[in-house]
Formats: sequence, structure tokens, C-alpha cells
Amino acid sequence: MRYLAGTLTAVGVLAIAGTAYAEDVEVLHWWTSGGEAAALNVLKEDLGAGGIGWEDMPVAGGGGTQAMTVLRARVTSGNAPTAVQMLGFDITDWAKEGALANLNSLAEDEGWNEVVPAAIQDFSVYDGEWVAVPVNVHSTNWLWGDKSILDELGIERPTNWDEFVAALQAAKDAGYVALAHGGQPWQDATIFDSVVMATGGIDFYRSAFIDLDEEALGSDTMKEAFDRMAVLRGFVDDNFSGRDWNLASAMVINDEAAFQVMGDWAKGEFLNAGETPNEDFVCFRFPGTEDQVIYNTDQFAMFRQGDAVSSEQAALATAILSPSFQIAFNKVKGSVPARTDLDASELDACGQQAYADFIEAAGSGNLIGSFAHGHANPASVKNAMYDVVTAHFNGEYDSETAVQELVTAVQINK
Ligand code: BGC
Repeated sequence: MRYLAGTLTAVGVLAIAGTAYAEDVEVLHWWTSGGEAAALNVLKEDLGAGGIGWEDMPVAGGGGTQAMTVLRARVTSGNAPTAVQMLGFDITDWAKEGALANLNSLAEDEGWNEVVPAAIQDFSVYDGEWVAVPVNVHSTNWLWGDKSILDELGIERPTNWDEFVAALQAAKDAGYVALAHGGQPWQDATIFDSVVMATGGIDFYRSAFIDLDEEALGSDTMKEAFDRMAVLRGFVDDNFSGRDWNLASAMVINDEAAFQVMGDWAKGEFLNAGETPNEDFVCFRFPGTEDQVIYNTDQFAMFRQGDAVSSEQAALATAILSPSFQIAFNKVKGSVPARTDLDASELDACGQQAYADFIEAAGSGNLIGSFAHGHANPASVKNAMYDVVTAHFNGEYDSETAVQELVTAVQINK
């Protein structure tokens, strides 16, 4: 409660349920699909019950690229939102600029250090200061399958690349869209996360995406990953270009497409459409990445409004990391809690697996940041790499050239 003191005396406040808040929280985010909006409602309601009003600032665009552009404009004009949904290196970049509030006192009171694993703290904490609060942990290396199509065609869970290609071919031969996909750079990159991991393994993924090692980026293994992307390109439908990710998920929901490779926010769409895991859809780790978790965590970074954290920011942070909220929210969002001390029995079958995978990977070093979702390298590098992956996916150049372009993109932007 120490955060309340300054504000209470300074401004006329609204008192509800014994706690007083001067203002609404204005939250900038990109959760605009059906499943995302349902999850966001859990947060709004949780805050509303505590007397905090919500001012919504949605900026559509999966992966948050557009949201980050709008944020830059807002901050530049001296009008930063109270809290902002942010990914990985974006948090670090804003923290470096000194724009984020220090939440250490709250973190200490509530024991965040003990319950949030190190890989997540790598992005919540900058230079010893908690500057963002993790609302979830997603992972990108998932393959979603339409249960009725797979059953009809007798397709078993693919566990390696060849089996996956055979399954896609069987679906295509039967007249289904084999791979539901939206041709947007961040979606192409999301598939690339899994393909690179499956092709080169975790050490290769780390060298290429996190260490930005030129030898790995320019290697034959990377060329093979691009060759595999070209194979997948042959399994998407003619109208894939520009399609939003949730519309691709809808193709699986409507039994038009057999598979989608997407982070587990896709599960939020399936659930929101009334579907049940293992009855209507199946969740597999992308073939060949069964032991790894390529993660991204949505965090709320609090922009400095004055010297201290405001009472509303503190209340938002406390609400987000509370055990009951972490379960309630992640059940709907498709992700898993960012704290490792919770009972996951309320999560659905895919969520229970994801939570167990997350905790295991956090302990064994197999929890590794997603390139596509800003947890492997800073936005400047990520965006330059997106361009290469997308140009290649759209046939602008071959795999050999893509590899060279990737090396150049990293050299120029890192
Ligand atoms: C975010 C998810 C979001 C997805 C699609 C990801 O970067 O982490 O929360 O649902 O983008 O918009």
C-alpha cells in the first residue's frame, strides 16, 4: 500500500472497497482477436472488482509490430500509456531509455523473485530493477491439428519432418488445405522458429538467433531450414497472403484445414469457438522439437508517470501476478502461468502439458526465447530477419540467397 500515499493526498480520488485510485489505467495492447479479447476481459474484470477503471488502447496486429510503432509515437509526444503489453527485447530497449518504472519494492513484498523463473526475469528485470510484470508464458513450437480431418485420413501424430510432410501431403491429396497460414512477416517467422529448431537443434538455434553467430546464420543447416520453409509454402492455400492468424485458426476450427503452426494463443481461438482439446483439435509440439520450449512471455511494462510507481500501476502489477489471476487468465488465453508454483489441474489437457513442459524446460535449459516474438534478439535485428524470411517464403529468392541475405541483415542491424 505504500505506493498509494503520494497520490491520495495530491488528487481527488475515488474510493472503492477501502482502496483509493486516482485514475483509470490506460493499457496499450494488441489483443484484438476473439480469444485474446476474452482473455483481456478476465484482466479487466479482475481490476474492475478492485475498483480500478480500464481505458482500452488496442492496436490490432499479431505479434505487436504495429502496437510498438504506436507506442513510440505516444511516448515521443509525451503521452505514454500507464501500462503496455510488451515482448522481450522491447522491454529491455525501453528500460535502457529509462522510460520504465521501478517495481522492486512491490516485487520484494510479494516475493516475485522466488516464483518467476530466471528466463522470464531476464526480460522483467533490467539492471536489477523489475520493470515489467509477466502475465503469461506462451510457446511458439506448436502444431495444431483438426481432429476430424486427421481421424478421417488416419493421420497419426507426426514426430519428424518426413512424417509431417507425408501428413500434409495426405491432407492436400484429400482436398483439404494442408496448412492454414496467414502470409504476414511475423507469422512466417513464427513457423521459422520451429523449423530452425527442428532442423538444427537447440544449440544451433541459440547460435543463430541469440548469439547471432555468422557461421550458424550462413550455414548449410540454415539453408536446409529455408528449403523446408519452401516445402511448407507448397502446402498453404492460394489466399494465404495477408491473412490474419486468427482467420487461419478459423480454417482449422471450420474443418477446412488440417494443420496450423502457431503459438498457443491459437488455442485461445479454439477454446473461444467452444472447441475441446483431443475432441475437436489436437496439440502437438512441432515435429522434432518435442524437448524444447520456444517461449515468449507477454509482460506489462509500466511507464514512468512521475518519481514513484502510481497506485494504479501497483494494483495492476499485483493483480497480474496473483496466483488466482494467473490461472484464470491463462485458461482463456491459451498460455500458461508465468509463476512456477501453481496447481495446473484447472488448465485443459494442452495447457497441463504446456505448463509441465515449461517447468521442465526452465530447469533443464531447454527454455529458449522465440526469435519471431522478440525474445531472441532486439527489434532492429528481428525486423530485418523477418524481411528475409518473408521474401524467401514468397519466392523472391532461393534458399542459398536467403542465407546470404540473413547474414547481411544481421551484420547491418546488430
Ligand atoms: C503475443 C500473444 C498474442 C499473439 C498474436 C504474440 O506476440 O505474445 O499474446 O496473442 O502475438 O497476437
